[in-house]
Amino acid sequence: MRILVTGGAGYIGSHTVRQLIAGGHDVTVFDNLRYGHRQAVPAERLVVGDLRDIDHLDHLLVVERVEAVVHFAASTSVPESVKAPAEYYTNNLVYSLQLLDRCRRNGVGKFVFSSTAAVYGLPDYGVPDAVPIREDAKKVPVNPYGATKLAFERALEDYSFAYPFGYCALRYFNAAGAAEDGAIGEDHTPETHLIPIVIQAATGKRPHVEIFGTDYNTPDGTCVRDYVHVDDLAAAHVLALGKLGPGKRLTYNVGIGRGYSVREVIATVEAVSGLTVPVKEGVRRDGDPPVLVAAADRLRAELGWAPKYTNLRAIVETAWRWHKAHPDGFGG
Ligand code: UFG
Repeated sequence: MRILVTGGAGYIGSHTVRQLIAGGHDVTVFDNLRYGHRQAVPAERLVVGDLRDIDHLDHLLVVERVEAVVHFAASTSVPESVKAPAEYYTNNLVYSLQLLDRCRRNGVGKFVFSSTAAVYGLPDYGVPDAVPIREDAKKVPVNPYGATKLAFERALEDYSFAYPFGYCALRYFNAAGAAEDGAIGEDHTPETHLIPIVIQAATGKRPHVEIFGTDYNTPDGTCVRDYVHVDDLAAAHVLALGKLGPGKRLTYNVGIGRGYSVREVIATVEAVSGLTVPVKEGVRRDGDPPVLVAAADRLRAELGWAPKYTNLRAIVETAWRWHKAHPDGFGG
């Protein structure tokens, strides 16, 4: 299949691009390299461009005779979205809608979208079995990031009813880890994600990790997240593309179905690295739901998704290997 991958040089994008290429697909990566890394994708596949440049994208859809778009390019930080909603609505909604419409006009019938667990907001603790979160759970995002992603999901759905078009929205829980062979891994600037931050604190690259809130109504008072290995996440995209066709409306959680607290993440990094992590207990971060754990049985049942990494330790081991070999990320 001829596939355009926006944001394909980013963390999840680049792991997916590798699998798509390995699966024999003809992949064009479109990335502005603001967060993505040139070294994370094969040079001959990369087109440097910005999502806002819709004419550039349109040109690629035509000349590359694109059959499917996998759309990663987005602003992706929950706390940043609280401070800069304008940027999030523009990048994640306005530019994505432009892209979607060019897909329609150019007859691109398959679209895989990077959605997020942040669409759910606060799990409805009053409802029995609210956690793990099922795809049909109530969706009331508690931050602009989740709100923009949910709005675009809705556009996809409406398009699929009116046009010859099918989509898959993958609601990522917490992507983590690095490629098994150590070739690529997680490198954000600035880094805001827990596992790389804890590793940096362990190795002395930062003085400590601050725990954002220790007074949540969770077993140890810290937030609980469902960490899913980036290669398992990537595999879900490949499976989704295989299922897509006109009128298909697919929405899946991508998570392991098991939650770990911030303190458990810190303890796991200590166990894997053999190092001590300096910790500072801090206040809650805006926009953080206390618990996000996926019910991921729909993805397993319908697409045959079978994650290779089913516990945090296995995921952290791959992250630790990448960070040890690349202390300065792709710059090192
Ligand atoms: N955390 C800390 N200290 C830090 C960094 C994070 O205590 O220095 C805590 C956060 O408060 C949160 C947990 O660790 O409770 C995980 O935080 P991350 O920033 O690693 O990830 P988020 O859960 O905020 O967000 C991630 C992705 C989003 C996605 C979300 C869905 O970055 O894009 O998962 O679950 F929407």
